[in-house]
Amino acid sequence: MEEKLKEILSEKRFRHSLGVAKEAKRLAKLYGADEEKAYTAGLLHDCAKGYSIEEQIKLCDKLNVKLDESLRICPPVIHGFLGAEVAKKEYGISDDEILQSIKYHTVGRAGMSLLEKIIYIADMTEENRDFDGVDELRGAVNRDLNEALLISIEQQFKLQFKRRSTLHPNMIDMWNDLVLKSRKE
Ligand SMILES: [Fe+2]
Ligand SMILES: [Fe+2]
Repeated sequence: MEEKLKEILSEKRFRHSLGVAKEAKRLAKLYGADEEKAYTAGLLHDCAKGYSIEEQIKLCDKLNVKLDESLRICPPVIHGFLGAEVAKKEYGISDDEILQSIKYHTVGRAGMSLLEKIIYIADMTEENRDFDGVDELRGAVNRDLNEALLISIEQQFKLQFKRRSTLHPNMIDMWNDLVLKSRKE
């Protein structure tokens, strides 16, 4: 699996994928999720990102991945939804929990599973990442997974507002869901 991925991804993205796998496994141990599944999902989460956006759109058509309006207006999100199909067909993954974690790693959703949350946040906190606020996120992820997710969404929204980027509705659903849950705690 690693060999095949290495051929498809750039060196930098391959290194990032190994970093996410390692971080996801660590977080799985910390929060009581399946460590092996976390490693596999982390490794494969960007398996469709080696293709250009044009190629991704063509592949979606070929693999029957539905491109609804929300995906059409947010092209960087597509590789998650497509990645789940690629992981299934090209890498032989049949485990739904792993596939869902790959699918939603770009935008999340309301009611994420523990593994989905771990992959989403490991994508941001893996050792090769370097951006403003990464230390705050790395601190939070060791204390409280939901709080780390809220901080990460806040950071991403800020960037997207600044860049005048389109927002995917799943991200807003995830935010609302986590805020309401944090109020009940
Ligand atoms: Fe990604
Ligand atoms: Fe990634």
